[in-house]
Amino acid sequence: MIFDFIDGSAGEEQCCRLNIAKLDELRLLPRVLVNVEGRNQKKTLLGRTWNQPFGVAPMGMCDLTWPGADVMLADAARKYDMPLGLSTMASSSIEVTADRVGDRAWFQLYVGESETVANRLLERAEKAGYNHLIVTVDVPIIGARPREQRNGFRSPFRIGPRQFLDFALHPRWSLTTLRRGLPKLANVNLPGGEQLRRDEARGLLDWDYLARLRERWPGKLIVKGVLGSEDSIRIRDTGADAICVSNHGGRQFDSSPAAIEMLPRIRAAVGADYPLLFDSGVRSGEGVMKALALGADFVLIGRPFLYAMGAGGYAGLCQLIELLRYQIDIGLAQLGCPDVEDLDPSYVLKRSIAVNHP
Ligand SMILES: Cc1cc2nc3c(=O)[nH]c(=O)nc-3n(C[C@H](O)[C@H](O)[C@H](O)COP(=O)(O)O)c2cc1C
Repeated sequence: MIFDFIDGSAGEEQCCRLNIAKLDELRLLPRVLVNVEGRNQKKTLLGRTWNQPFGVAPMGMCDLTWPGADVMLADAARKYDMPLGLSTMASSSIEVTADRVGDRAWFQLYVGESETVANRLLERAEKAGYNHLIVTVDVPIIGARPREQRNGFRSPFRIGPRQFLDFALHPRWSLTTLRRGLPKLANVNLPGGEQLRRDEARGLLDWDYLARLRERWPGKLIVKGVLGSEDSIRIRDTGADAICVSNHGGRQFDSSPAAIEMLPRIRAAVGADYPLLFDSGVRSGEGVMKALALGADFVLIGRPFLYAMGAGGYAGLCQLIELLRYQIDIGLAQLGCPDVEDLDPSYVLKRSIAVNHP
């Protein structure tokens, strides 16, 4: 059930498959006779330089993967100097994460039915010293994910016979989880009884709200979950500092286009200098390089970090980050582009993808 929660997507899961397939299809054309002795994968985004060009996408309920997963992500973010998206639906609190991770933590905001709840979350994030806010705009309502529905996955858990059998068949996970306590949503149950439920509508978040949020949030504002060029231009003009091109890893709307196909169009629309992040479907260091070559300034990765912790805990997470770093390092050498800052569309074989499409 937990694997299906992480791995699953909306509908027939076509969008999720397409995200990965379109990235796989993209080819980078190596240049030869380039001196690649000194390679660099440090990447600057919004005025800060990071140790590598990727970070952790905000993900809710990570602790279901393995007890303490959110803390593992926080420790890895500090160790590798990587941004960490802390979801509204996280199992670690806004304050604890800020203490552990410092300015590497970016708070991700969901706006539900109550603007007051959203404002409280913003106040807490501001007080805890967050400089970056990600506001996610591609969940007007939670996506229909058949694997979750089939398994009877709910938050908070309801344990019927089917779930009991599932847990009994996975004793290591179940016993560790029981010993540590079932993970709780650490941020959404507010004093006074107000809360944000996982299944509540999030349609309050409209252009007016975005403009108010821009007025209200003093730090960097990143709008996540955008696929359209016209939307991107309007978001830029509303004063957001960056856009994250994403279809939520295919978890929301099965008919969405592959995120990577929209990236070059959005880059063309918002101009060369406007900061763009990218996520959805990245599964390797070369995948990170492809997104950078097509116009992203930075890449977020979601599910792979959860798979790594599910398989090998904190050691598995570190192993994956090092593998991604290694793949980028040797990938830059193979491509004949020693610096990630220099990746651009000229490295992409213009075959299946409309690189310069407006
Ligand atoms: C288990 C899970 C929970 C997620 N929860 C959130 C969330 O709370 N907020 C959010 O903005 N995105 C959430 N996402 C989407 C990710 O931030 C990201 O867009 C997506 O995972 C990227 O695709 P990838 O998994 O193919 O890398 C979640 C994704 C997963 C897999």
